[in-house]
Order: sequence, then C-alpha cells, then structure tokens
Amino acid sequence: MTNYGTFNNPNNRAPYAKKIIAITSGKGGVGKSTTSVNIAIGLAQEGFKVGLLDADVYGPDIPRMLGVAHEKMRWSDEDKIIPSENYGVKIMSVGLTTPDDDTPLVWRGSVATSALIQFLDDVAWGELDYLVIDMPPGTGDVQLTMAQELPISFAIMVTTPQSVSCDDVGRAIRMLKESHITIAGIVENMSFFIAPDTHKRYDIFGSGGAKQLAKRYDLQVLGTIPIEMEIRERSDQGTPVIATGSEEIKQRYKNIIHKIYSQKENV
Ligand SMILES: Nc1ncnc2c1ncn2[C@@H]1O[C@H](COP(=O)(O)OP(=O)(O)OP(=O)(O)O)[C@@H](O)[C@H]1O
Ligand SMILES: [Mg+2]
Repeated sequence: MTNYGTFNNPNNRAPYAKKIIAITSGKGGVGKSTTSVNIAIGLAQEGFKVGLLDADVYGPDIPRMLGVAHEKMRWSDEDKIIPSENYGVKIMSVGLTTPDDDTPLVWRGSVATSALIQFLDDVAWGELDYLVIDMPPGTGDVQLTMAQELPISFAIMVTTPQSVSCDDVGRAIRMLKESHITIAGIVENMSFFIAPDTHKRYDIFGSGGAKQLAKRYDLQVLGTIPIEMEIRERSDQGTPVIATGSEEIKQRYKNIIHKIYSQKENV
C-alpha cells in the first residue's frame, strides 16, 4: 500500500500558476477531458490566464478537442517548449510531440511521468491564474506523481450517474482525501438525455449518482451536464461547446465555473 502521508508536503513544479486544478475520476470515458476543456475555456472567457495540461500520456485527447492536433511542438530560443494556444487557453500534451496522431505511445510508467514533469518544468507557460490538469483514468502513477510534484489547489471529480462509475469515483475520492487534496465538488456528466423530437427525458445511465456520492463523502455537486450530441460532435471537431455551442449547455458549464470560484479559497 502506498503511504499517502508522504504527499503532505508536495514539491511545486509550477510556481508560475496561482491555482492548480486537477480534473479527475477513478473511471475512464466519463468525460474528464470534455469537462477539462470546457472549464479551461470558460475560465479564460472570465478573463483568467489559463493553461491546460493533458496528463493522459497514453490517450492524449486534448489537442483534438481544442483544434490544435495538427500543430507540432516548437522550442523557443531560450530552449523552452512553446505551448499551443486556442480559445485563450495555453495547451500542452504528449499528443503535440508525436509525428502522427496515431503514433503508439508505448512507454513505461516512469517515462510517461518524466514527460509530464518536463511539461511542468520546460514549457513556457508564462504567469497563469489557473493550470488545469486533465488526468488519465484510474488512480495510478500519474495521479501519484502529480500529487507529489504539485500543490494541487483542488480537484474536480467527474462521474456519470451509474453506480459502477461511482464506486470507482469513490476510490479516487478516498485517494485524494488521503493525499490531503481538497475536492471542490462533483460534476455529473452524461446526466440525462432529452430526446430532441419528443423532449422526453431519459436517464440513460440511471440517476442520482453524484448526489449519493456527495452525501457519502460530504462534497457538493457542482452541476449536471446532459448527454448531448453537440457536445460529442464539437469535441471531435475541436470547437468546444462552451465556445461555439448552444446557450443552454454553455450556461450549464458557466454555472459550474461560477460555483467553483464562488468558493473564495479557489480564486
Ligand atoms: N455530456 C456529453 N454528451 C455527449 N457526449 C459526451 C459527453 N461528455 C463526453 N462525451 C463524449 O464521450 C466520449 C468520452 O469523453 P471524454 O474523452 O471527455 O472522457 P474521459 O473521461 O476523458 O475519457 P478517458 O478516460 O478515455 O480519458 C467522447 O467522445 C466525448 O465527446
Ligand atoms: Mg480523457
């Protein structure tokens, strides 16, 4: 068993960032990257200086979701990596370092975490109000390294309503608590579906999961995001919903952001 107590005094590899937000979940495919992208852009729209670090070294989705997948890594004269930028957000991802989108990333865990440490140390992020980190699924090497190398200001948990997902999220919540990382709250993604033709509501992944988790672990639900075709389509096209989508969904993300920075310790 890992002794999480060793993370009481983490290093600070990102002194240039005022606040560091980890977007996480014990589970894969629940919408961590989608949430990271929309929250990062939403914070930039509020006038904050924002960086987005894709910590999913084996499945780096952020460049595609932010429409910069065609860009290649560039170095400055000072030997710093120049981050990509779109929608007012600075972006770094392993996906920007590979020659083709489908280059297999077959790395040992130690190499993967070294790449992330290099992104923290060697990217010319400039001064940031928020560094948002899109975590990979699970509670493994990357999560432990981040907890060791960064004073994470708070985490946002992403879950779907179904209970299997919530068991995994429960494990991740305990890992964060044992690492003394504050959890700002839970985003319930893929919360429900409104049929566009009949306007009938379907609870495809069940209902109430985030509420139950919040009660069990004494956390707040930051908001719910429905299953919407446009969220998936816009992610695939690199035109995130908070920048280009319908008012209704934009507003849902904005409400989440307002809830986050209405907790004054988060600003
Ligand atoms: N609310 C939503 N409505 C419709 N599609 C969504 C929604 N949220 C996410 N998706 C889609 O579901 C898929 C998985 O989402 P995403 O990549 O954000 O999950 P993830 O938790 O980051 O996954 P991974 O664990 O693989 O990193 C993507 O195709 C995304 O576009
Ligand atoms: Mg992801």
